[in-house]
Amino acid sequence: MTDDKTLLRVENLNAWFYTEEGIVKALENVSFSVARGEILGLVGETGCGKSVTSACIMRLIPSPPGKIIGGKILFEGEDLAQATPERMRQIRGKDIAMIFQDPMSSLNPVFTVGRQVEEAIRVHNPDMGAAQIHERAAEMFKKVNIPDPEKSMKRYPHQFSGGMKQRVMIAMALSCNPRMLIADEPTTALDVSIQAQILSLIKDLQKDFGSSIMLISHDLGVIATMAQKVAVMYAGSIIEYGSVRQIFEHPLHPYTQGLLGAIPRLDQAQEYLEVIPGALPNLLHLPEGCKFRARCLRATERCALARPAAVEAEEGHKVACYEYR
Ligand SMILES: Nc1ncnc2c1ncn2[C@@H]1O[C@H](COP(=O)(O)OP(=O)(O)O)[C@@H](O)[C@H]1O
Ligand SMILES: [Mg+2]
Repeated sequence: MTDDKTLLRVENLNAWFYTEEGIVKALENVSFSVARGEILGLVGETGCGKSVTSACIMRLIPSPPGKIIGGKILFEGEDLAQATPERMRQIRGKDIAMIFQDPMSSLNPVFTVGRQVEEAIRVHNPDMGAAQIHERAAEMFKKVNIPDPEKSMKRYPHQFSGGMKQRVMIAMALSCNPRMLIADEPTTALDVSIQAQILSLIKDLQKDFGSSIMLISHDLGVIATMAQKVAVMYAGSIIEYGSVRQIFEHPLHPYTQGLLGAIPRLDQAQEYLEVIPGALPNLLHLPEGCKFRARCLRATERCALARPAAVEAEEGHKVACYEYR
């Protein structure tokens, strides 16, 4: 069910990679939703399935070896998991746009940046004339605060710094006024001072354009400053979901608590964990029961029996942990 306020609802999404070593269960029953005009932060350690989640939504999961095994990706009620390749070409860029950690993965080194933004506009606006397209592109360069838009548009990607390239990517992504922007680690490759500028730009533009954003980051600080809702991912599953306040001020899952450094160490009561001991389980050989239990200081026998389903521990705050049953 999708209501008017929900833009995207992912339901029980499962995605596997068929590799020579076996089946990598990258996503297991992933469910979350993004409301209109909202920023959802998707956070978790490297390798937990954040990028695979966004690739599934865009239907860009490399196939083979990847495959969506089950579940729904309801965008305004339309199930993108079932959409034809042609339908997805219409949606990508126009309704849902994406920016990545590495702008060069989307920018072509042989064309000027202006031409590339114009092309993005042209593809989805076949009725627009060249002059109008150029004007729109220049307007986007201005919106992302690239100095001297007309001159900058004539330059090539390598003539820009990392931060400026990311601004071009944002201009391109927002050029068709998408209802949803997926930003996958958009500032991870940038210097800290530039990171803050790009994040505040994204936030300003989000207000201006009214788009929803799914912001992916392994950095809790980025999520805390940007998001309204937070989904915490662990080994291919969302283990906790709530408002930014609920997650940061009252985390429930032992993993989230560990990430936030909230679990006192047993041996040194005054010290706090900076890193959770152990590593992500191998997605090729996932254990029975809770996927976090090998690293969990509070695990008991019941945690080995079956995967804990998410329960609503308080209003709007869900957690997949037996402690809250
Ligand atoms: N092309 C692939 N082939 C096999 N396994 C993959 C592939 N891409 C991703 N995976 C698996 O999916 C997991 C999640 O990857 P990813 O979503 O990229 O993590 P992150 O949270 O860092 O973005 C990885 O740990 C890996 O096991
Ligand atoms: Mg990633």
